[in-house]
Amino acid sequence: MEATTTSQPKTISPPISPTFRISGGRRFSNDTSVAYILPSDQDEVKRLKLNHDLWKELMNGLFKSDMHEQLTKGIRVLDVGCGPGWWTLDMAALYPNSQFIGIDMADVFVAQDLPSNVTFEQMNAGTGLEFDDASFDFVFQRFLVMGLSVEQYSSSVTEMKRILKPGGAIEILELINDYSNASPAFARIGSWIHQAMSARGLDSFIADKVSSVLETAGFKNITDVNYDVPIGPWGDESGEMFLSIQKLALPAVKVMVTELTDTTVEEYDKTEEQAYKEALSHQVSTRFRLIYATK
Ligand SMILES: C[S@@+](CC[C@H](N)C(=O)[O-])C[C@H]1O[C@@H](n2cnc3c(N)ncnc32)[C@H](O)[C@@H]1O
Repeated sequence: MEATTTSQPKTISPPISPTFRISGGRRFSNDTSVAYILPSDQDEVKRLKLNHDLWKELMNGLFKSDMHEQLTKGIRVLDVGCGPGWWTLDMAALYPNSQFIGIDMADVFVAQDLPSNVTFEQMNAGTGLEFDDASFDFVFQRFLVMGLSVEQYSSSVTEMKRILKPGGAIEILELINDYSNASPAFARIGSWIHQAMSARGLDSFIADKVSSVLETAGFKNITDVNYDVPIGPWGDESGEMFLSIQKLALPAVKVMVTELTDTTVEEYDKTEEQAYKEALSHQVSTRFRLIYATK
C-alpha cells in the first residue's frame, strides 16, 4: 500500500482574488462561510507534504478501511478538504483503475503531471457536497479540525453518508488541539490556538466526538484508533519529523492567533522559540484519532 513520492510537483500559484486576503505575509480565505484558521499558500503546501509523508509512515500506508480489493478493481473515491491533493495523488498512482476526486475550498491543488484518474474541484465542504446521492464508494477526510465548525463537521458527515453507496466506506483522520504532557510554552500556544478556534466556532476536541457523530449519522462497523505522536528527538525519526512540521505549523497558525486573541506577535514569537527549545528537553506529544466505518 505504501507509495513513494520523492519529487515535488508544481502546484497552481493562485492569483489573489476577492475570496482571499493577505495578512502577516500569508494568504487566507476571505469567505465568511469558511471558518478555516490556517493559510492557503505555497508554504502551507510544503507543510502538508511533510505531514502526508509522516502519516504514511505512522499508518504504514494510506488508509485502514477494508477497501484494497475494491480499489484495485476500480471505484469512485472522494477526498474532502484534500489541500494540494497529496493523499489523492498517491492513492491514484496505487489504484489506476479507480477514479479520485479531491475537493477543497482553496485553489492549492497540484497542477503538474495530473494523472487521468484524478480531478480536483474548488468546493466548500461546510455548505454541502455538490455530488449525487450514492455516487461514491469511499470518502476520506483528513485534518479538517481547523476548517469545519462543529455544525459544519456534523453536516459534512451527513453529506458524506448521502453521497456514499450502501456498504461504502468513510475514513476520517483528525488531530486533537491539546498537547499531551505539554511543556510551559507548548501549553500556552495550545491554549491560544484553542481560543482562536473557539472564536471561529471550531472545536479543538472534535476528534474525540467523531465516532459518536458517525454513530448518530447511522454509520456501522465503526473503528476508532488512537495515535499519540511525539514532538522532538524523544520520538526518534517520526518525532524529529513532527518537530519539523511544528516549525511550519506554529508560524502558520500565528496570524489567526494574533488576530483572534489578545496575544501579541512579540509574545507569540518568544513563546514559539521557547517551545522549540522545550521540545528537546520535554516529552510533548499530540493525540490524533483515525475513525473508519461503513454505510
Ligand atoms: C490541514 S489541511 C489538510 C489537507 C489534506 N486533507 C491533507 O491531509 O493533506 C486542511 C484543508 O482543508 C481545507 N478546508 C478548510 N475548510 C474547508 C471547507 N469549508 N471546505 C473545503 N475545504 C476546506 C483547507 O483549504 C485545507 O486545504
